[in-house]
Amino acid sequence: MASPAVPALDVAAVRAQFPYLEREDDVVYLDSGASAQKPRAVLDAMHEFGGRHYANVHRGQHVLAREADAAYDAARARVAGFVGSTPQETIFTGSVTQSLNLVAHSWGRPNVQAGDEVVITQMEHHANLVPWQQLCLRNGALLRYLEVDEHGAIDLAQLDAFLAGGRVKLVAIAHVSNVLGTVNPVAEVIERAHAAGALVAVDGAQAVPQRSVDVAALGADFYGWTGHKLYGPTGIGVLHVRRELLAEMPPFLTGGDMIRIVDFHETSWADGVNRFEAGTPPIVEAVGLGAACDWVDGVGGIGAIQAHEEQVTAYALERLGAVDGIRIVGPERAEDRGALVAFAVDGVHPHDVAEIIARDGVCVRAGQHCAEPLHRALGIPATTRASFAAHTTPEEIDALVTSIGRVLEIFG
Ligand SMILES: Cc1ncc(COP(=O)(O)O)c(C=O)c1O
Repeated sequence: MASPAVPALDVAAVRAQFPYLEREDDVVYLDSGASAQKPRAVLDAMHEFGGRHYANVHRGQHVLAREADAAYDAARARVAGFVGSTPQETIFTGSVTQSLNLVAHSWGRPNVQAGDEVVITQMEHHANLVPWQQLCLRNGALLRYLEVDEHGAIDLAQLDAFLAGGRVKLVAIAHVSNVLGTVNPVAEVIERAHAAGALVAVDGAQAVPQRSVDVAALGADFYGWTGHKLYGPTGIGVLHVRRELLAEMPPFLTGGDMIRIVDFHETSWADGVNRFEAGTPPIVEAVGLGAACDWVDGVGGIGAIQAHEEQVTAYALERLGAVDGIRIVGPERAEDRGALVAFAVDGVHPHDVAEIIARDGVCVRAGQHCAEPLHRALGIPATTRASFAAHTTPEEIDALVTSIGRVLEIFG
């Protein structure tokens, strides 16, 4: 359970800040794992910046260009500090999918060769699977999978066995699984991988919105996440790259703003993070993401959100676990998982589950959640997933359980 030193989240005050909760139809939003709703402060910050201080960045001398430059740079510093990184190691991308593709192309292509190995887990989101699969296919490397056991956990002994072969160049792993909720032991994975001379890329898409992350303390070589799950806008992702690696990496995308000198037949690259931000970056979105970091800290910090979500998750596990015919996937205890619960209802396709409970205004996600190989490994075609946020209440879990009762009634 969360430490008693963490201040309790004022959930009523949090809820008052979300415009979607002003709708008249009382939606119960249990789909924050797919994308978080935005608090007013984030929407206002984007509106204010976009309306009064907007210009393109890194290319103008006029007053608005200077204000936009300052806001964009401040957003980078804010976002980096939020997860214990530095602005010099923080690249803005379009999404975590783009962040991981950047690593696969920019670092992976020159560094992963025929005979090398890349290790991932069976629980990866496609964003942290397909780029490595394609890299290995292209370069003749071997992609190996850490298996997921019946508690939704990986086995570090299997990782050790893979590493002992001496061929692993990279381990890529989700910090928090978007289906099982498993919180992977990334610090141990990084320590073991580094001891064997391998690098580690972490997919922090579900972790950063839910728990305190310190990229530097973890020692992650690459750590990616996405703005829209942290109460921020879509269209912005983040990639932290350890300084020494970043200095060596060639660009992924090329074009404007990432160059030093362009001649007719050759080009030299800009230094630092600019080298990886070709073209006009997500400027308003960066400001919005900075505001989202401020908002999280303003309501008590990620620790308070984590403590609240853990209570909600424990309640959901208890209530859903008591329903006959439901199989919950992932770790049994709330303290071992992120803020989501995915489950299968005996004899009912998840799309039917989601469709029926949607009639009650309950919003969940049904399907494979971009983790098709995981569902194959679990032997379940698909699942229904309820995912939680700072504004989720126990009453909303009750509403979900009541609706599931209706599903079971309909399907007998
Ligand atoms: C664990 C995980 N990784 C990656 C992603 C992809 O995020 P995006 O679509 O923002 O790139 C998601 C989104 O659902 C996710 O949950």
